[in-house]
Amino acid sequence: MKQIKLTCTISVLSWTELPEEAKEAVEAAKAASYRAYAPYSNFLVGAAALLADGSVVTGNNQENAAFPSGLCAERVAVSAAHSLYPELPVRILAIAAQSQGKFLQKPVTPCGGCRQVLLESEKRHGAEIKYYFYGDEEIYHVKGTESLLPLSFSLSKNKRGE
Ligand code: THU
Repeated sequence: MKQIKLTCTISVLSWTELPEEAKEAVEAAKAASYRAYAPYSNFLVGAAALLADGSVVTGNNQENAAFPSGLCAERVAVSAAHSLYPELPVRILAIAAQSQGKFLQKPVTPCGGCRQVLLESEKRHGAEIKYYFYGDEEIYHVKGTESLLPLSFSLSKNKRGE
């Protein structure tokens, strides 16, 4: 039987190991988490997209009494970034989450739906996104969305039968 093994490389970093622009993005994500609207989950998530020109656009989760109508922080940040600056690729995406008034010890990682949206953002601009998933104890760094979402759906690829 033939098997396919998929690998995902995650660099586990401490705060001091982060490049300056990653620190800026993480700080912006942390600040954005305080502005989240999450009365149902009480799980406050902030995301920051650092764009190719150095601008930073943030987002946070926006919940709704009709649960599926809520939005994740990553999707809010990336959609806001592309609606404001459609020509600019996202260079860095940082996320941070807090629960009961404290940032999580372990890194928060994006949901499946957001991974698909992030993949589209990357493909649209043909530029790899660098991810920083914040936790107080450690920070995960991943290069490129393909690592986060192997075997992803792509209309053109699937139509061609690839
Ligand atoms: N959430 C995000 O905003 N981003 C993630 O990466 C994980 C989950 C939100 C969705 C919901 O408002 C709350 O966190 C609890 O699931």
